[in-house]
Amino acid sequence: MKNDFFKYQAQTTPHPLAMEISRAEGSYIYDKSGGKHLDFVAGVSACTLGHCHPRVVSAIKNQTEKYLHVMVYGEYIQDPAVALTKLLAENLPENLNTTYLVNSGTEAIEGALKLARRATGRTQILYANNAYHGNTMGSMSVMGFEERKNAFKPLIPDCFPVTFNNEADLEKITSETAAIILETIQGGAGFIQPENNYLKKVREKCDETGTLLILDEIQPGFGRTGELFAFQHFGIAPDILVMGKGMGGGMPIGAFTTSHEVMTLLQDNPKLGHITTFGGNPVIASAALATLQELTETDIIKQTLEKEKLFRKLLNHPLITEVRGRGLMLAAMVETPEIANEVILACKDRGLILFWLLFEGRAIRITPPLTISNDEITEGCNIILEVLDSIQKKVN
Ligand SMILES: Cc1ncc(COP(=O)(O)O)c(C=O)c1O
Repeated sequence: MKNDFFKYQAQTTPHPLAMEISRAEGSYIYDKSGGKHLDFVAGVSACTLGHCHPRVVSAIKNQTEKYLHVMVYGEYIQDPAVALTKLLAENLPENLNTTYLVNSGTEAIEGALKLARRATGRTQILYANNAYHGNTMGSMSVMGFEERKNAFKPLIPDCFPVTFNNEADLEKITSETAAIILETIQGGAGFIQPENNYLKKVREKCDETGTLLILDEIQPGFGRTGELFAFQHFGIAPDILVMGKGMGGGMPIGAFTTSHEVMTLLQDNPKLGHITTFGGNPVIASAALATLQELTETDIIKQTLEKEKLFRKLLNHPLITEVRGRGLMLAAMVETPEIANEVILACKDRGLILFWLLFEGRAIRITPPLTISNDEITEGCNIILEVLDSIQKKVN
C-alpha cells in the first residue's frame, strides 16, 4: 500500500506522515500494524464529535437507504439540506438566516467573495496578513502569505492586505471596498485572537462604508472555541459567515450564510450566479445535521472551555512559552520550529497525534475532537511532557 500511495496518489508535500489507517473510533485512530494513536488533531479540526460518532454514522446509514445524489444543488427539496439550513438559522443571529451549502471550505469562500462583489457592486476585497482561507484561486488571492502565492500569480485583482488587530489599517476600509474577509480567530497564523475590540471596530467601519464583513469560521466554528461560532464571543455578527471542516462531523462540506435579501442576489441577473452539482448532498447534509443536533442538544460546547482549562493546567513546561487559542483550538508554543517539529514527530512515535500550523513554525497544534475525555487529555499531555523533558535533557 505504501508504495502505491507514493506512486499513484498525488502528494501535497515531499514528506507525508504516511500512517496506514485501519479504523478510527472516538479519540483514537488505529493503524494497520496494530498501533493505537490518540488524536489531538481531529483531522485538522474536522472531526468535531470524534471518529465515527454513532449519531453521525447512523444518520449517514439511514440516508443511504433512502437516496443519494438526485439533482444539482437547489432544484429539488431534500429533507436533510432543508433541516440543516433551518437549524443553522435557528442558532444564528437574525441577519444570518439563509445558507448556501457547498462541498468544502474553500468553495464556500469563493461563494462568499462572489456574493460580496455582487451585493455591493464593488470589486475591492481586503484580507489579513497571514490569513488562510483555502487553496482555490479566489481563496488564495486573499491568503496573507505571499511566499506561497507567488508561484500561482496572477490571482484575482483588487485584493489588498491589512494587518490583523491593527486599528490604523481599518482606514483602508472605504466606500470602494466590497468586503473585508477575516478569520475570527486566525488559524494558520498561530491561533491569534482579536484584541481590544478589534472586531467591533471592523464592524463599525464596515457599517460606515457599506462594506460587507465576511468572517471565516471554517476552523473555529461548530463549537470548537466554546461557542457555536467564535464571533459570538466578541459581540458582533458578520454579514456573511463561512463554515466548513467541523460542520460535517467528518464528512466534506462547506457553507456560507447571509440574509435572505443578500443571498437571493445569486439567483438572478445573472441567473445561476453560483451553482454546484453536489453541494447540499443528502448524505453529507445528514451527517452535518446530526453533528449540529448533537452540539445544540448537549453541553459538549460548554465543556470545551473546561477542557481548555485542563490543557492549560497540564501543559506547564519550561520549553512551552505560551498556550495560545481558545476552547479546543489551542497551540502550544515553543521557542523554535525545530523543537516543535521534534515534539510532533516524537509524540507520533509514542502514539499521540499532533500537527503543525501552516505559517507559524513554533506552534504545536492541539485541536482534538470536542468529545475527548479528561483522561484522554491527561494521557496525551503526559506524552507531550515526557517528550519535552527528553528534549530538555539533550539541550542541557
Ligand atoms: C480558516 C480556514 N479557511 C478555509 C479553509 C479551507 O477549507 P478546505 O480545506 O475545506 O477547502 C481552511 C482549511 O484549513 C481553514 O482553516
